[in-house]
Amino acid sequence: MKSRREFIKIGAIGSAALITQTACASEKGEDLEEILIPPVAAIKPIVLSTWNHGLDANKAAWEVLSQGGSALDAVEQGVRVTESDPTNQSVGLGGLPDRDGNVTLDACIIDHNSNCGAVAFLQYIENPISVARKVMEDTPHVLLAGVGALNFALEKGFEKTNLLTEKSKQAWENWLKDSEYEPQINSENHDTIGMIAIDESGNLSGACTTSGMAYKLHGRVGDSPIIAAGLFLDNEVGAAVATGVGEAVIRTAGSAIVVELMRHGKTPQEACEEAVARIMSKHKDLTNMQVGFIALNKNGEYGCHSVYAGFNIAVKHNDFEDMVDAQYELEW
Ligand code: GLY
Repeated sequence: MKSRREFIKIGAIGSAALITQTACASEKGEDLEEILIPPVAAIKPIVLSTWNHGLDANKAAWEVLSQGGSALDAVEQGVRVTESDPTNQSVGLGGLPDRDGNVTLDACIIDHNSNCGAVAFLQYIENPISVARKVMEDTPHVLLAGVGALNFALEKGFEKTNLLTEKSKQAWENWLKDSEYEPQINSENHDTIGMIAIDESGNLSGACTTSGMAYKLHGRVGDSPIIAAGLFLDNEVGAAVATGVGEAVIRTAGSAIVVELMRHGKTPQEACEEAVARIMSKHKDLTNMQVGFIALNKNGEYGCHSVYAGFNIAVKHNDFEDMVDAQYELEW
């Protein structure tokens, strides 16, 4: 486990952050007396992202943040790494297709001024997050979908690419043998990549991108391109991002709720726990209902929590770079 190493290393930074980070990991409560020192400074820059693929994404984001770049550029550059990785079957190129064999992508991005852009049900574009940024910067709209989003991307110079890799095609053809319509949410370290960051200036940004549930109905859109569901931030408060079953996150306005709970005094960890509790209380059948949240407040304190075991987050700041396991409510 990394939590002990983590809180010892950042002991000089501030107790509030330490307690939050310790709470996020599974060794909660260990040797707290060693670390109770007065808070001295916010942790910044910092970048957090979902799942193991977040480690490489964070590295790319850190290239930007460590040179004084903006959190907005950092999160875009970060998640592009995952989108362009053909071995990752839940995001961008090589994502598992819908039940008709189409790879359809959802993404959104938000900056510290609450400018935001999103694309949904977008096909043939390897880096939907960059299209989402163009929607944010070059149009008066927030969300473009389907063929409209594709045409917009092509107009902006994005290349049309076949996103269905041989590996994902084979997986789909295997699935077709039974064609059991049971949308599959990934439970073992792969799903949406959601990333939230604070830059040197103390500004927050976030990005979220996915190929969505494998073998979904054609046209299905999840939480990841929906501002307030898959991703939300208020630069005066903090940011949150979600992973897991998008329908459950949309029903509860998951990421917005996490940010609002922080606004009203909850720690990032407490806010994630309450959002998970809300999802659990609103769904009688929790079978395969994995959802996880990450929250980050203005001070660089963070938390993470999930319905089921197995969710982890990649964390990078000046004193730490590793995965942290989320606490959870249920075993699989
Ligand atoms: N959270 C990703 C999705 O449901 O599509």
